[in-house]
Amino acid sequence: MLEIIPSILSADFARLAEEIARVERGGASMLHLDVMDGHFVPNLTIGPPVVESIRKTTRLHLDVHLMIENPDFYAAAFVQAGANSVSVHYEACRHLDATLGIIRSAGAMAGVVLNPATPVAVLEDVLEVADYVLLMSVNPGFGGQKLIPYVLEKVRKLDSLRRQKRLALPIEIDGGVHRENLADVVRAGCDWIVTGSAVFHSPDPEAAVREMRQIAAQAAAVQC
Ligand code: DX5
Ligand code: ZN
Repeated sequence: MLEIIPSILSADFARLAEEIARVERGGASMLHLDVMDGHFVPNLTIGPPVVESIRKTTRLHLDVHLMIENPDFYAAAFVQAGANSVSVHYEACRHLDATLGIIRSAGAMAGVVLNPATPVAVLEDVLEVADYVLLMSVNPGFGGQKLIPYVLEKVRKLDSLRRQKRLALPIEIDGGVHRENLADVVRAGCDWIVTGSAVFHSPDPEAAVREMRQIAAQAAAVQC
């Protein structure tokens, strides 16, 4: 299922409920929440209390992206706060299989994230126990960066790997996606498309989501 998923990293945090209502009116059914700890990435964002407050303001699927060290220790708290899906970085997990198990038993979908430089091949076996895979198309930490083009080749590789294994898991992409490169991203095989600055830095976030949903649907229709 093709989804345009606004990332609140570029939203106005003082008016978060309004910002969320705007993208919801634009047709978004999922919201991407970036959690950064100042260690795994050189930036700091939000923790479970903020997710809990967001949960109270919206019924959208909350997709939490953990860019933190020691995710085993924190993942369940994000599920309890209301996350519907939680993804952890391959690069931050010493026991990835166990970490995915923690997320699933807490009651959320469990995703694995790869940094741009980490090859898709490392996922070959763990794909069976992941609910989705997030391929970073920028180095994590900040919104507003440029999409790294070689990541689209990784999307194609992962798409053929999931076909080979007959797995239906969604491929998510995160970083530098905007109207102009969106069709390429869809044609490469992405299902869940995160977009931050292209939505929240536009004068009309509602229209931006609506337009991106149309572009994505058209690109998918041409592909078939
Ligand atoms: C970056 C975050 C992204 C970010 C994307 O580390 O994981 O979710 O919000 O923002 P844009 O779409 O501006 O690249
Ligand atoms: Zn993210």
